[in-house]
Amino acid sequence: KRKLIILTDPGQDQAAAILMILGAPEIFDVLGMVATAGNIDLGYTTTNCLKLLELAGRTDIPVYAGCPRPMMRDLVTAEHVHGPTGLDGPQLPEPVTEIASGHGVEFIIHTLREQPAGEVTICGLSPLTNLAMALVQAPDIAPRIRDIVAMAGAYFEVGNITPSAEFNVYVDPEAADIVLNAGIPMTMLPLDVTHQMLSTPDRLSAMRALGNRCGVATAEMLEFSESFDLNKYGWEGAPLHGPCVPAFMLQPEMFEGRQINVTVETGSQLTRGMTVADWWQITDRERNVFYVRNGDAEAYYALLLKCLGNLP
Ligand code: BDR
Repeated sequence: KRKLIILTDPGQDQAAAILMILGAPEIFDVLGMVATAGNIDLGYTTTNCLKLLELAGRTDIPVYAGCPRPMMRDLVTAEHVHGPTGLDGPQLPEPVTEIASGHGVEFIIHTLREQPAGEVTICGLSPLTNLAMALVQAPDIAPRIRDIVAMAGAYFEVGNITPSAEFNVYVDPEAADIVLNAGIPMTMLPLDVTHQMLSTPDRLSAMRALGNRCGVATAEMLEFSESFDLNKYGWEGAPLHGPCVPAFMLQPEMFEGRQINVTVETGSQLTRGMTVADWWQITDRERNVFYVRNGDAEAYYALLLKCLGNLP
């Protein structure tokens, strides 16, 4: 099985990603989740992780609280998209389990040292603060990571929180910079591909029609968060970001991308967090990222439905 550490600040789209992962238990072994400050503050993201595990009947998976803020910046949140709890929409079950003891950064370090080298994938759904902190504290873990698969960045579709930056990178650009320069194999699923994965009314109806509590709750969560994007973009559905990460791990053939250099802007006020993708290989900078540019939305939603259908 592919061992995962999930970095997350759910977030309805990330809830869909987490449930997609839990719906493929024969493929993924989730070692733990690290709640991140991002879409909303850490108190909410930690509770939201616990609620999702309760919903999926997977309270055996530990949830650790990570850092309460980015490495060098004040926290920027996105309640305007995700609602005042960060995960508004359906009534989710109140968690019965507690947060695991110990810090999220310590969990990352300890797990990577304990597991055989090259076996653990870091699944980045959120700002990369906790992974970057772990790499700063314990550089020896870098070569032990199998790879990082992260929803992060944008280039051709430019930004969603500023004209030039994608939210996860914007929130903690220094963390993204550290991770991009750590020499770890990395795949980026940027807005360029997530903007192709639209949650059209037909797709959400099919999700609701699954009839199980996870399918219905996911449809309700996405109906809540998409109202913001529908107004913003005027498309027939909202981009569904997070599940690109598990979809890439499960069926990489549904995506197209290139191994290129990606560098993050940390100096400028105007373009803070911009991910400059050298798509045409104009520079001789190291090709540090497999940058995904296109994906098959029909195959994506079919896979999401299949995984959700495996849950209670
Ligand atoms: C990312 O920003 C967050 O608001 C979403 O949950 C997703 O992780 C998209 O830019």
